[in-house]
Amino acid sequence: MSVFNRADEGVRRGTRAVAILPILRSAASRGADARLEEFVGLAAAIGIEVIDQHAFPIRKVRPATLFGQGQIEHIHTLVEATGSELVLVDTTLLPVQQAKLEEALNAKVIDRTGLILEIFGERAATAEGRLQVELAHLDYQAGRLVRSWTHLERQRGGFGFLGGPGETQIEADRRIIRDRMARLRRELADLSRTRGLHRDRRGKAPWPVIALVGYTNAGKSTLFNRLTGASVLAEDMLFATLDPTMRSISLPGVAKVILSDTVGFVSDLPTQLVAAFHATLEEVVAADLIVHVRDIAHEDSDAQRGDVNRVLDEIGAGVKDSKIIIEVWNKVDLLDADMRAAILDDSGGRDQPPLISALSGEGVDALVHTLARHLTEAHEEHRFVLPVTEGRGRAWLHEHGEVVSETNRNSDVELTVRLSASDLARFHDRDFA
Ligand code: GTP
Repeated sequence: MSVFNRADEGVRRGTRAVAILPILRSAASRGADARLEEFVGLAAAIGIEVIDQHAFPIRKVRPATLFGQGQIEHIHTLVEATGSELVLVDTTLLPVQQAKLEEALNAKVIDRTGLILEIFGERAATAEGRLQVELAHLDYQAGRLVRSWTHLERQRGGFGFLGGPGETQIEADRRIIRDRMARLRRELADLSRTRGLHRDRRGKAPWPVIALVGYTNAGKSTLFNRLTGASVLAEDMLFATLDPTMRSISLPGVAKVILSDTVGFVSDLPTQLVAAFHATLEEVVAADLIVHVRDIAHEDSDAQRGDVNRVLDEIGAGVKDSKIIIEVWNKVDLLDADMRAAILDDSGGRDQPPLISALSGEGVDALVHTLARHLTEAHEEHRFVLPVTEGRGRAWLHEHGEVVSETNRNSDVELTVRLSASDLARFHDRDFA
């Protein structure tokens, strides 16, 4: 059962590594430096120490090794010079390429998918998160069984490269993986049903749900903390958030809203991961309002936006699914005056997304009102005249509605309030007036 031995596959904290970015034509929309920086950030998220990093243009893909011979020699020199035991390659490698590179470089090789899986594995906090990660990991391993024979054989005391297990052994391993995956899927479906029930129950209580989504490190958790006053892990680490975190907050005119923080998205999220994380993202599908938090100071901000929108489309929570998605442009504190002006110019003043700094709090008050406005769009304005002695009614309106104006006239208070139809009925039932 060595194929399930995570310790064997996993990487230790403090492992020295070199990070390699193959520049393929398909990824030309992003700057190599920013990509490498993100990749090194991903590695740091699980404590891998990247000692050196390098980008190599790939003019012609070598099917067996991806890189050309000269490039492999260059990488080998980097590995030796830095005393690294790990080479991280920022692309999806075929199993055969990974095996050949490991052999040529005499170091363990992990590709982007493998690295993301390692991170997910370390960060999964709930039962559901752990099941999802294990499922994705098995899926990844199933495709890699061809090369796994070397280490499987080593563990069985065989002769390494001289002889592998027969087809039958690989078939048996595959079957074990398939069975385990089927069981995990059943367990996940059960958990997902339970969450659905919770949601139905919430659905009956009139609480709207706002889901925060965004590219990894965009500042979702920081904004979540600001809006809830709660302290959810916010670190300068990618993927600090894996499982959705929910809190209830109140907004002007909306007494109770469920705010949900979700896993950060990354580019090239392997399809098997998107599928595996579907359950985590169900909260997004069911949300009344999706808030897309963007790091507007990031040089690849536009490309990141495209990645997030693609995932939203894939899970059925995109604009074409009639979801209300609002963008929030975060980290404005990192922009100088010229950059701010350029951003404002670009949008031409049309539907300018809220500009905020979740870190300093700038713009967050305005955002709160924007969120409230979106949730209360279906609400209508009503006029109420209450005797000044009716403090309870006035307080109730302030709590449940959005008070547009309030005027004191002698012994009365006149209020114009945006309220949902059900709250209007509740107000009259209470007989405050
Ligand atoms: P994942 O969990 O990876 O999805 O990240 P996230 O989107 O939840 O990001 P998080 O809130 O953890 O923030 C990432 C880093 O950006 C942290 O170091 C934050 O302090 C920083 N950050 C968040 N908002 C701002 C901001 O408005 N300005 C600046 N300068 N930094 C910010």
